[in-house]
Amino acid sequence: MTEKKSKTEIGLGMAALGRPEYINIDSSGRDKSEVAFRTNAFKVLDDAYEKGVRYFDTAPSYGKGEAFLKDWNDSRNYTDVVLGTKWGYTYVADWQLGYEGAHEVKEHSLAKLTEQWEVSQYLLPALEYYQVHSATFESGVLQNKPVLEKLLEIKRTTGLKIGISTSGSNQNEVIENALQIRINGEVVFDSFQVTFNMLEQATLSVLQDVKAQGKKLIIKEAMANGRVFENEKYPHYQSLYAKLQSLAERYEVGVDAIALRYVMDALQPDFVLSGAADIKQLEQNLKANYFTLSEDELAQLSKEKVDSRKYWEERSKLSWD
Ligand SMILES: NC(=O)c1ccc[n+]([C@@H]2O[C@H](COP(=O)([O-])OP(=O)(O)OC[C@H]3O[C@@H](n4cnc5c(N)ncnc54)[C@H](OP(=O)(O)O)[C@@H]3O)[C@@H](O)[C@H]2O)c1
Repeated sequence: MTEKKSKTEIGLGMAALGRPEYINIDSSGRDKSEVAFRTNAFKVLDDAYEKGVRYFDTAPSYGKGEAFLKDWNDSRNYTDVVLGTKWGYTYVADWQLGYEGAHEVKEHSLAKLTEQWEVSQYLLPALEYYQVHSATFESGVLQNKPVLEKLLEIKRTTGLKIGISTSGSNQNEVIENALQIRINGEVVFDSFQVTFNMLEQATLSVLQDVKAQGKKLIIKEAMANGRVFENEKYPHYQSLYAKLQSLAERYEVGVDAIALRYVMDALQPDFVLSGAADIKQLEQNLKANYFTLSEDELAQLSKEKVDSRKYWEERSKLSWD
């Protein structure tokens, strides 16, 4: 179990590590204090580094996600860590458990970019990816010339890769649009962080195009926010659960590792993100590095894709706890 089996690296996302409540299927039993979260985040980051993870993804809206990552990285002094962050959402739940409103508020304005860049730039020099957090047509960000110019200025002065992350049933259209964007002939976007998994495969073809154009590709939500785990709330995924269980037994790993491996073998992105909430999940996730799925197994899992609109409708009903 020592040789890694593909070019795709597993990165670690901070969404579940930096704030007490996130999209969850079941987070009961976790100590939700800030001190406990910081301790847990450092443990997971240390364990990830020790097991070969070098890419770490965060955002200002992940509560203390940026701060934990910065403090960890500053205190460890590694020279080979690569960080990515985003701008455009603000965390407003202020660590209040059971917060009723939206925990993060979106604003894709020049003022928000300027304000958040002021903070995020302290992640340099390890910072390599700077992304619009959930770019959409509605937010106007892809047509906002002052914002695009500011992003190009950041790229010129720091050498960062400028990217977008996408969510929702029109990921394809947003990515296709972003690939075309140029300001005075200069290409704006170099990296794409996108949801792709066994259930949501609508982006397969556009992502092959993204790769062919030499852009960096990062995949998030490989476990469909936990929906790949057997759950009586989702009886319509029985066939997926059965296939995953049988593959998990064959490769002596958990369903999580099969879900990550599916992305690695079906798409071969630069990175696929683990959203591990603790060391146990991380260690199970990283087992995806050490086996591969056959063509037939990939084809069987690919048959489980669902209608994109239904996928995102179901995701919007997941609770934050
Ligand atoms: N718009 C964006 O830019 C955006 C959006 C979403 C995510 N992301 C990034 O992508 C990363 C990953 O996404 P994600 O966490 O939302 O989705 P995900 O990877 O599909 O789901 C991760 C969840 O699966 C569960 N899990 C993982 N390993 C497990 C195991 N071994 N056993 C049981 N449950 C396990 C955990 O849920 P429980 O906590 O319920 O145990 C965990 O929080 C995030 O950390 C973030 O960095 C970016």
